[in-house]
Amino acid sequence: MEITSFIVMDILERAKELEAKGVDVVHMEVGEPDFPSPDEVIEAGVKALCDKKTAYTQSVGIPELREAISGYYLDQYKLEIGPERIILTPGSSPALLAAIRICTEGDRVCGLPDPGYPCYKNMARFLGGRFVSLPVEAEGGFKVFPYQLDGIGALVINSPANPTGTVYGREELGLLVEEAAKRGVAIISDEIYHGITYDKPASSVLEFTDEAIVVNGFSKFFLMTGWRLGWMVVPRKMVRLVQSIVQNLFICPPAAAQYAALACFEGAVLAQFREKVKIYRKRRDFIVEALSEMGLNVGVMPQGAFYVYANVSKYTQDSYSFAKRALEEAHIGITPGVDFGDNKTRLYVRFSYANTLERLGEGMRRLREWLRVLV
Ligand SMILES: Cc1ncc(COP(=O)(O)O)c(C=O)c1O
Repeated sequence: MEITSFIVMDILERAKELEAKGVDVVHMEVGEPDFPSPDEVIEAGVKALCDKKTAYTQSVGIPELREAISGYYLDQYKLEIGPERIILTPGSSPALLAAIRICTEGDRVCGLPDPGYPCYKNMARFLGGRFVSLPVEAEGGFKVFPYQLDGIGALVINSPANPTGTVYGREELGLLVEEAAKRGVAIISDEIYHGITYDKPASSVLEFTDEAIVVNGFSKFFLMTGWRLGWMVVPRKMVRLVQSIVQNLFICPPAAAQYAALACFEGAVLAQFREKVKIYRKRRDFIVEALSEMGLNVGVMPQGAFYVYANVSKYTQDSYSFAKRALEEAHIGITPGVDFGDNKTRLYVRFSYANTLERLGEGMRRLREWLRVLV
């Protein structure tokens, strides 16, 4: 089976080896928030365990959490999404797996943005589904355009995007959804970075259609990566099918995680998540400026998520060895563009700014010195 390794995990593992030998590594490869879950979330999880809520839950998740997410759609997006369409999963990854399987049924070809989140293509491979890369270019803001929908049966949209931080404007997204509907292209919208945006909130495809599968979760904005909890919003006609899939494949999401996640929707807790976005924004501005000064061109200002996708062609045509050498020689962890596809990815690396300003400052200092030696 042709599954490529998730290179960022390889880099992380090597970084951990170096650290075990006493080397101080600045982590800018990691794709998860550097903040722990809020105390309220942890306390709710602990309470669930003390109350012995250790059994399986409903396969689609506990009703009160589905209600809470439904309420969140109303508050945040002014959308009425019935809780019966919301299905909880053990992380958003299983939701993506189910969504990709459903949408590639009948030999439909799934279009995946390139560069894009690497697991999409490996999930499609694992499932034996067909997929094609849809090149997204810096000049086009790293977005998929409607003309690229020709010949595909399904499309994965990811806004805010990993690795580029691209956020589709409301109209652009609406147009893409409209064109997809005209062509009968099924949409999977990975909205896992929603909430982490810097200019305006990201639009959901649910603002334009009830026919798409939306994937979201508690890992990024809600700071709960290790709890493993995600959700999908599915078209009404698909509810029963998806319920059967999650029953068979995942049994149910983790019980304690679900009770913990209920705390996320309290006003004071939501305010904490929003504070973190302000912190990410300062880091983004800092790192973009520092990289630009070094001639690492950030052609498109990231408007969401916590990544900068920088062009390193001034220094290399091979982002993979560049990232490996940066780790070994400068002790900084970064992710080579080749992790994200084939489209000019040898000329790019991804910097994650899910790290403190102090550490990012140290990372930029090391990078600057290392590049001086490199040229
Ligand atoms: C675009 C994207 N989708 C999905 C995921 C998976 O998140 P989860 O922890 O919810 O499985 C990630 C994680 O990095 C991601 O970047």
